Amino acid sequence: MKQVLSCIQPTGDMHFGNYFGAVQNWVKLQEEYDCVYGVVDYHAMTMPYNPVKLRQNTWNLIINLLASGVKAENLFVQSLVPEHAELSWIFNCVCSYGQLTRMTQFKDKKDQLQEGQSEAFISSGLFTYPVLQAADILIYNADYVPVGKDQEQHLELSRNIAQRFNHQFGQEYFKIPEPLFTKIPKVMSPAAPNRKMSKSLGPKHYIDVFGEEARIRKQVRSAVTDTGDNVAGEMSAGVGNLFELLKAADRMSDHDSLMNDYNAGDLKYSALKDAVADGLVTISSELREKRNELNSDKKAVKNMIKQSSYEIRKRAQQTLKDVRSITGLMSIRY
Ligand code: TRP
Repeated sequence: MKQVLSCIQPTGDMHFGNYFGAVQNWVKLQEEYDCVYGVVDYHAMTMPYNPVKLRQNTWNLIINLLASGVKAENLFVQSLVPEHAELSWIFNCVCSYGQLTRMTQFKDKKDQLQEGQSEAFISSGLFTYPVLQAADILIYNADYVPVGKDQEQHLELSRNIAQRFNHQFGQEYFKIPEPLFTKIPKVMSPAAPNRKMSKSLGPKHYIDVFGEEARIRKQVRSAVTDTGDNVAGEMSAGVGNLFELLKAADRMSDHDSLMNDYNAGDLKYSALKDAVADGLVTISSELREKRNELNSDKKAVKNMIKQSSYEIRKRAQQTLKDVRSITGLMSIRY
């Protein structure tokens, strides 16, 4: 079976953009591949953060992922596999400085931190973040990495690091991982449908999967439909996003009949919005029920994930054992 690896940062609540855009895909991939999924808390340290919140967000995200259908045995916490940090150091020494300076996500995040602040603190961790990501991927010899377009450059860097390592040490040790682009819904902000649904844009721009029903309905009801600058004869971005959400929520019969209305020129936005809200609320209440179950025995969840991380760590240790030998470091007893 081919090996799939992906990771997600523990940054608070899960919104429908995360759910439809990544998590649902992770769940499906488990049927076809040997999957390893990480909650990457080391990565979350690269931006200013609060230690208590980091630990809370890590466990919350794990519960959300389990409630969504990710299997516990496939899930690990990055810092419970400290070999990621070790391999990252070794990769820092085979990755060129020049290549890291070309990473656009670093530039974006740096600009974000510096916005209106001349003395903003930019950590070296933020700069070498993609090297740690390469370690996440290569430590398990992944064949495929399901990622969004925004991560393409980082994946390319991982491939380069693998090639450079193999070349420098004269053996084909690391597999060269491939991106896995599956057709995933592109969920936009309800308030600004030309931008991706995102927490960083503010509370109007994302719909929390575990939000109260009334709030979900209200957010859908106030979604932008026509902005007045539509190209004649083309569906507006806001209406397109509502149809996309219906499809993502698997409401195909609603989708098709409302699309017929649209094509006939008599679509009622209120009917479209009601259908979307119903779809999202249904998913939300199912997930919430599962989450409540998991939350009722948090200790069991923690033990389960510590155990799965422990099992997954054995694979990482095997890689490090080989890498230590190849690179001239001391061998260590695990
Ligand atoms: N950088 C990714 C993101 O922001 C998260 C990530 C870390 C990741 N390590 C990874 C994704 C390894 C895929 C594979 O979304």
